[in-house]
Amino acid sequence: MIAYIAALVIAYLIGSVSFAVVVSKFSGLADPRTYGSKNPGATNVLRSGNKKAALFTLLGDALKGTLAVGLAYHFQDTYQFTQSDVAWVGLAAFIGHLYPIFFKFEGGKGVATALGVLLGLNWVLGLATAVTWLVIAYFFRYSSLAALVASIFAVFYNALLFGLDGQAAAVLVMAALLVYRHKQNIANLMAGKESKIGQKKA
Ligand code: G3P
Repeated sequence: MIAYIAALVIAYLIGSVSFAVVVSKFSGLADPRTYGSKNPGATNVLRSGNKKAALFTLLGDALKGTLAVGLAYHFQDTYQFTQSDVAWVGLAAFIGHLYPIFFKFEGGKGVATALGVLLGLNWVLGLATAVTWLVIAYFFRYSSLAALVASIFAVFYNALLFGLDGQAAAVLVMAALLVYRHKQNIANLMAGKESKIGQKKA
């Protein structure tokens, strides 16, 4: 029990590292929380015009999700974590990204981190979700819409692959939180005011 609580806390702390803020600082860019959508995420860093910084943000935020899940798998036998325990550790990293202890609990929307968690749990699940994101983003050019659709599909992909268990609950909670964090994007999309991928914003 103590080991599992430690795993959740460590995952949360890993998830709390906001790569949008860190990468922007090292790249000499403005804090992403001060421009565009004000979201510390790869999509908003891209609005700075620096594609490399956006890519590193995407990779960093995704890898922290994969790392948290990977660590849980690494210690799975030692501490007898179930598959669903591992999924909830991934969820803890995702929550760290949304509500980071290092940044006054004001984090991002969790798209890259969710993808990293799903890839860590199962590469087919992660890949199917990533492809869904890419298809919607390619046709509609809205990062937020792609994330919303992909997160909902992820719930179904997971249920199809693994059935309805503790992991399904973790993936569902992750998708619900992701949708909740996109409430402003949903309002913008419905009002036709959402900016497209790469579109710069003051
Ligand atoms: O990755 C977050 C994306 O779905 C929306 O970002 O900056 O347009 O609110 P943003």
